[in-house]
Amino acid sequence: MKSFLSRTVLAAVIICAVTILAFQVEAETNRVRFPDNLDNLVHYTGRERGNSVTHIKTTQSVIDLIKAGKPIPNGSQFVLIDYRDGKLYRYFVMEKGANWGTDYDESRRTGDWQFQWFWADRSVNMAENTNRCQSCHQGASDSDFLFTHGEIQAFNGMPVN
Ligand code: HEC
Repeated sequence: MKSFLSRTVLAAVIICAVTILAFQVEAETNRVRFPDNLDNLVHYTGRERGNSVTHIKTTQSVIDLIKAGKPIPNGSQFVLIDYRDGKLYRYFVMEKGANWGTDYDESRRTGDWQFQWFWADRSVNMAENTNRCQSCHQGASDSDFLFTHGEIQAFNGMPVN
């Protein structure tokens, strides 16, 4: 009887844990994947603010398309790598996919881009609501939600900023 009870309790605990985990995944992860080609991305611009230095990167082919005035294709990723006091701190990633915008209400939508915050160990920051990313990047809707669109056009092999 005792072992039956403890098994029941254990099962209940496991079900709760799985439910909580599933809820968190549902709440905070999305379709954005950590880039698998980080080493091949081109550092075209960045920022220095206080103890933070950022390197902003995408692929050479996306840079070429933007410079040629062509649309940015689905599957494209942009990465903002944030170093604090010289140490890798976090990665901000935006990625575009076919109809990915329909995952969100129209008011939240940033075209077909989705956003994610990854820590240095590449795990998702589960405490971040990426709606925040989107509401700010909506301000760059004229340049496909990119704030550094103009810096790509100015890029000529050396990081612009
Ligand atoms: C308050 C406004 C604001 C918020 C919130 C914000 N961003 Fe940005 N983001 C910017 C600006 C401005 C830039 C241009 C670079 C800079 O100034 O640091 C930028 C640049 C980027 C870039 C480089 C491509 C581009 O747009 O030029 C990525 C990738 C990015 N942000 C991802 C994210 C992610 C992911 C989040 C949420 C976790 C986020 N951003 C939240 C304003 C914001």
